[in-house]
Amino acid sequence: MEKRIMQIRDGVLLQHPYILVFVLVLSFMVMDPFELSPVGGLDFSPVENDIAPYKSVMESWPWDNRSRLGLGNLEFKDEIFGPESLEFDSLGRGPYAGLGDGRVVRWMGQESGWETFALVSRNWSEKQCAQGVDSTTKKQWKMESECGRPLGLRFDTKSGDLYIADAYYGLMVVGPSGGVATPLATHVDGDPILFANDLDIHENGSIFFTDTSKRYNRVNHFFILLEGEATGRLLRYDPSTKTTHVVLEGLAFPNGVQLSKDQSFLLFTETTNCRIMKYFLEGPKSGKTELVVNLPGFPDNVRVNERGEFWVAIDCCRTAAQEVFVRNPWLRSVYFRLPVPMRYLARFAGMRMYTMIALLNDKGDILDVLDDKNGDVMKLVSEVREVNGRLWIGTVAHNHIATLPYEPPLLQQAY
Ligand SMILES: *[C@@H]1O[C@H](CO)[C@@H](O)[C@H](O)[C@H]1NC(C)=O
Ligand SMILES: *[C@@H]1O[C@H](CO)[C@@H](O)[C@H](O)[C@H]1NC(C)=O
Ligand SMILES: *[C@@H]1O[C@H](CO)[C@@H](O)[C@H](O)[C@H]1NC(C)=O
Repeated sequence: MEKRIMQIRDGVLLQHPYILVFVLVLSFMVMDPFELSPVGGLDFSPVENDIAPYKSVMESWPWDNRSRLGLGNLEFKDEIFGPESLEFDSLGRGPYAGLGDGRVVRWMGQESGWETFALVSRNWSEKQCAQGVDSTTKKQWKMESECGRPLGLRFDTKSGDLYIADAYYGLMVVGPSGGVATPLATHVDGDPILFANDLDIHENGSIFFTDTSKRYNRVNHFFILLEGEATGRLLRYDPSTKTTHVVLEGLAFPNGVQLSKDQSFLLFTETTNCRIMKYFLEGPKSGKTELVVNLPGFPDNVRVNERGEFWVAIDCCRTAAQEVFVRNPWLRSVYFRLPVPMRYLARFAGMRMYTMIALLNDKGDILDVLDDKNGDVMKLVSEVREVNGRLWIGTVAHNHIATLPYEPPLLQQAY
C-alpha cells in the first residue's frame, strides 16, 4: 500500500516538474539544512497563544489621535544607549538608567553629566563592552551575555539599595554608592534564570521579578513573540531565607512588574498576549490571576504614579496581517523559515511599530492615551515614569530619554 502511494506520487512529480520544484523548495524551507533562514539553528516551533481577537480589541480601544507624544523632547541624545528602565533615588537624584552596554548610569546634573554607577559583572571592560551608540545595535549582541543588560531598576527606599533585573545575570543588588552588583538569584529550582526582565519590591522585602522565557534569551526575544511560546515565569525572591520561588509559570513573555500602592496586588504585562494581568496578594482572590486589559499592541514595563495609577509603554500596534500569523502557527513555521533576512519578513508581515503610552487604574479603565503615530519622535518605548508633572520615557532600542510635561486627565482641557 505504502509503496503504491509512493509510486503514484513519484509519477505525478515527474510528470509535473514544477510541482517537484515546489515540493523541493518547500521542504528546503521547512528543513532549512543550511540554516539560512532567520530561525536557522533554533528549535523554532510556533504555537497558538492566548491573545484576544484582533477586531474586538481594536474596536473597543479608546484611541487618541492627537500625537501628543510627538511633543516630547529627546534628551541626552547619543549620550545614553537604550535606557530601558529609569529610576530616581530617595534624594531625588537621577535618572538612573540601565544601558545596552551593560552599565547602570546616573545623571549628576549639567556639570558632572552621566557617571557610571554600577556594573553587573566584574568582567565588564570598556574595550569589550562600551560600544557607544552601537550598544543598541546588532554589534553588541555577541557581547551582551558577558557585559550584561540591566533591564529593570528599583530602589529600596528604606535601605537605599538598588535592585537590578539583568537579562543575563538575573536578580542583583548594589549599595547606595554603587559598584559591582551582587547576584541574588541566578537559578530557581535548579534551572537557570535565562531572561530576567523587570522587578518590584514588596514592603515586606520580597522581590517579585519576571523571567521572560526558559527557551530564548534577550538577543533572541523576537522569536518568543513569533513562536507564541509560554514558558515565562513570575518569581519571588525572599531575602530573609535567600531563596527564590516560582509564583506563576506558563506565561507568554512576562515583562513589566508593578505592585499596587496598597500592596494588595501586582500587575504584570504579557507581551506576546498583548495584555496586562493582575496577581492578587491579599483578600479573597489571593493567589489568583485575572485579566486587567487587552491592549492594541505589545506592552513593556508598567510603573505606578503618585496617584496609584499605572503607566504602560506599548509598542504599537497589532495589525490585520499579524492576526493571520497569530491564528495560524503552521504559517509562521513556513514563512519564518524562508531564507530571507528577518527585517524583510517582519515588514511584509505588517510589523511596523510605532509608539503609544496609556494610563490606567486598578480596574483596567483607560484614563489617558498618548501616541506618536508617525513615529516622528518616539519609537519602541519601554517605560514611563511620571515625576512631578513630567513624564520620563525610556526606550530599549534608541539612544535618548524622552521627556514630556504632563497634567492628569482631570486637569487637562476638555477636547
Ligand atoms: C483614531 O485612529 C483610529 C485607528 O487608526 C481610528 O479607528 C479612529 O477612528 C481615530 N479616531 C479619531 C477620533 O479620529
Ligand atoms: C569572567 O570571566 C572568567 C574568565 O573568562 C569566567 O570564568 C567567569 O565566569 C566570568 N565571570 C562572570 C561573572 O561572568
Ligand atoms: C511578603 O509578601 C508576599 C506577598 O504577599 C508574600 O508572598 C511573602 O511570603 C511575604 N514575605 C514575608 C517574609 O512575609
